[in-house]
Amino acid sequence: MLVSARSFDEYRAMFALTDGDLAPGRRILDCPGGAAAFTAEAGRRGIDAVAVDREYAHHREDLGVLVERETRHKRDQLVREASDFVWTWYGDPDRLTRQWIANARDFQADIAARPDRYVAGSLPELPFADYSFDLVLSSHLLFSYGNRLDGDFHLAALLELARIARREVRLFPVMVYDTGVRYGELDGLRHHLDALGIPSHVERVEYEFQPGDNELLVLSCADYRPLARAGAPGAGASMPGASVAGASVSGAADPVRWRHRENP
Ligand SMILES: C[S@@+](CC[C@H](N)C(=O)[O-])C[C@H]1O[C@@H](n2cnc3c(N)ncnc32)[C@H](O)[C@@H]1O
Repeated sequence: MLVSARSFDEYRAMFALTDGDLAPGRRILDCPGGAAAFTAEAGRRGIDAVAVDREYAHHREDLGVLVERETRHKRDQLVREASDFVWTWYGDPDRLTRQWIANARDFQADIAARPDRYVAGSLPELPFADYSFDLVLSSHLLFSYGNRLDGDFHLAALLELARIARREVRLFPVMVYDTGVRYGELDGLRHHLDALGIPSHVERVEYEFQPGDNELLVLSCADYRPLARAGAPGAGASMPGASVAGASVSGAADPVRWRHRENP
């Protein structure tokens, strides 16, 4: 699976992020982070952002370098297939390549400087307590790889992301990348989530690269009460602000952190 390296500005456009969403101190999870520069730039802006990806277990020292190599390689393919894409955002294949290489380098510098911001983890089970983040962002994994990841995986992954989000999970795009059409089980999944207390909506965003990949799925998690999961940090917490490990989830000395399982 391709590991990509999108920028903070791409994230802002893909996820329709407002200044309020990105206010300093907001706790945001990027899952999967890949070699994206979102967490690095968010950190510079005072946002309490964390990235999680399964590759962080294996390639912490060289992921950015590997992605840079892959991006250079992909450039020729993009030139050949340029007419298949919408270039409003990037301009042309060379600008995209330059931008992604810069993002991968930013990521690599940040993971070296702030290693605790990059957590190894694999959906559908993440090493975070319930309600750990205000907002969870997820791009180019769920739905995009709908040809390889089945409906059960999607449902389990969506519930897991909803479990750790206090407010919202935003997922982009809702299109399967190699067919260019909307993920077939999207409506069924949304009905299922709705029945569990997670209403959702799909909205059009400004970003588009593959024709039609300009739709964002927003899950509203504020009223969702995740079932306690045996062994999960914070398992049993039943509502935001509930007491976990002896302290308030919403308090300043919040112990319900991703660090709990990373560095017990
Ligand atoms: C196309 S990249 C997207 C990265 C980033 N969101 C971006 O837009 O630049 C997909 C990422 O999903 C990660 N991934 C694949 N399966 C995963 C799983 N089950 N749990 C967590 N990450 C996974 C891969 O390692 C890869 O970095």
